Amino acid sequence: MTSTDSAQTPAKAPAKDPWDLPDVSGLVVGVLGGTGPQGKGLAYRLAKAGQKVIIGSRAADRAQAAAGELGHGIEGADNAECARRSDIVIVAVPWEGHAKTLESLRAELAGKLVVDCVNPLGFDKKGAYALKPEEGSAAEQAAALLPDARVTAAFHHLSAVLLQDPEIEQIDTDVMVLGEARDDVEIVQALAGRIPGMRGVFAGRLRNAHQVESLVANLISVNRRYKAHAGLRVTDV
Ligand SMILES: NC(=O)c1ccc[n+]([C@@H]2O[C@H](COP(=O)([O-])OP(=O)(O)OC[C@H]3O[C@@H](n4cnc5c(N)ncnc54)[C@H](OP(=O)(O)O)[C@@H]3O)[C@@H](O)[C@H]2O)c1
Repeated sequence: MTSTDSAQTPAKAPAKDPWDLPDVSGLVVGVLGGTGPQGKGLAYRLAKAGQKVIIGSRAADRAQAAAGELGHGIEGADNAECARRSDIVIVAVPWEGHAKTLESLRAELAGKLVVDCVNPLGFDKKGAYALKPEEGSAAEQAAALLPDARVTAAFHHLSAVLLQDPEIEQIDTDVMVLGEARDDVEIVQALAGRIPGMRGVFAGRLRNAHQVESLVANLISVNRRYKAHAGLRVTDV
């Protein structure tokens, strides 16, 4: 290589700071199944942080009642309207209703950033255990059912009790965020980071969502033994 060649070699762009996340404050967040503890808790925390939030339900009046209880400008609508009006749609229905709910909202969810927080678990006398969805995980089932949506997975390890407790100002925990498209994952990381104490950490592609969803069975064991509402911290990042 001549000195001229080396002079023409373009300088390598500096690596992007992984904590340089987008501003998501103007995005509308919908929560399917937002009348349950997890959905209500997330809606409350995100709205309290200044996000516009719409709770979804199979019945609009149930969503409106939950929204009224929570305040902070939260609105309620049926799941279809919630999906239609939102930029980011969190799926917070039980595993049993997951496939049916998403199949019925395929058109409304086209182009939307979907955030699946569903943990497929079974319970027996030994406690909670991870189910094995045919598609690999709840998140992969969502991606299979919603080919036109941008599916990510996050918010699996949060305690709905802590989320809903108005006495608690800060929730010190990390949120593992999985997905295929970096831009979408970063939006979800930024959304998690809106909640005081919370941090969104990239944790891989959707093919690794099963472990993240399943880990909740371990957290439930922790909670039962220590009478706690355990969360997770990823160290050294
Ligand atoms: N609870 C937690 O601490 C926690 C933490 C992390 C993740 N998660 C995950 O978040 C999801 C929601 O948890 P949750 O405890 O809030 O659940 P949930 O109370 O059992 O259900 C949430 C809402 O989903 C709707 N729903 C119930 N059955 C349905 C069905 N068959 N099809 C469609 N919608 C149905 C109901 O709303 P409407 O009747 O108003 O439609 C219900 O209020 C679960 O998948 C769970 O694994 C929960």
